[in-house]
Amino acid sequence: MNNLSIIEQLKTTHTATREQLIFLLKNITGAEREELRQAAQQTAQAVFGNKIYIRGLVEISSICKRDCRYCGLRRSNPNAVRYRLTPEQILSCCEKGYALGFRTFVLQGGEDGFFSDEVVCGVVREIKRRYPDCAVTLSLGERGDESFRRLYAAGADRYLLRHETADLAHYAKLHPDSMSGAERQRQLFVLKQTGFQTGAGFMVGSPYQTAENLADDLLFLKKLQPQMCGIGPFIPHKDTEFRDFSQGSLELTLTLLAVIRLMHPRILLPATTALGTIHPQGRELGILHGANVVMPNLSPLEHRKDYAIYDNKICTGDEAAECIRCLSVRVQRIGYKIVTERGDYH
Ligand code: 5AD
Ligand code: FES
Repeated sequence: MNNLSIIEQLKTTHTATREQLIFLLKNITGAEREELRQAAQQTAQAVFGNKIYIRGLVEISSICKRDCRYCGLRRSNPNAVRYRLTPEQILSCCEKGYALGFRTFVLQGGEDGFFSDEVVCGVVREIKRRYPDCAVTLSLGERGDESFRRLYAAGADRYLLRHETADLAHYAKLHPDSMSGAERQRQLFVLKQTGFQTGAGFMVGSPYQTAENLADDLLFLKKLQPQMCGIGPFIPHKDTEFRDFSQGSLELTLTLLAVIRLMHPRILLPATTALGTIHPQGRELGILHGANVVMPNLSPLEHRKDYAIYDNKICTGDEAAECIRCLSVRVQRIGYKIVTERGDYH
């Protein structure tokens, strides 16, 4: 096997076998990664030009009933500072965001029982009433088929639910016994069927992860055909049992971004905050490897630092307006521009 021919094949056919993906992930050299990067960047530019879409992220609750072993907001972390925004606070974040040019709002939060279907549907309807030109994305965990139907009927356009790892045995190492990787994958297919533009995704370099696991993640995406995919490096959180594991590598994360871009030319692929956290130019590097979305934070400043899923998260002290300015400069320096369109999947 030969990485340059695998890269060429990815570029032209958008597919690779499990064996090819494993080989690529295990053996790619610096020069080959540069080939891969250029192919991914060209593919993204052929679809999106030099446009980077923005999504305004509103972190609505740090309260979570789940206990994912890697996450700082896990239920059993007594040191996590818990907060929940009121519907009014969420709407005022959107108001601020709209004025700054955001046309997608992402409501993300832990699995917090306060946010019943009734409450979330109410907020979604009000956002869509006030801003009919905006998309609403939800990222509120596993809620089940009926809940997804109600949220979609209320007007939500998109839903993010990372599959975390496609390998069920690996999934079981990262989660408590009460959670099932098979159920998570099932809910992703339900989200798509319900009509949502659906986002899957996974952490890179999570504890016990192998190249085989990552190849399976890529093949899972091929099967699901999501409209969006969020990936970022695993970053240890001091209050979790994974505190002493090392963080995911920058190079591996960039390699995976580029492979995902080649396998899914039109996918909406964010350069994530986690990527920006492990390297000062992480998000720019992500864009240069085929990412085409950034998600600045619109959450109220007083709660920013409390949405701590991993340590040292960036931008916890910056107003949304400041992040937009900062990101505009950053993307311009590498030849891109931030646009305010909704940025739907086509
Ligand atoms: N490091 C990196 N990403 C994490 N996530 C949760 N905990 C961590 C961590 N320690 C990711 C998961 C989750 C998303 C909201 O954040 O993939 O789906
Ligand atoms: Fe938040 Fe740069 S993006 S300060």
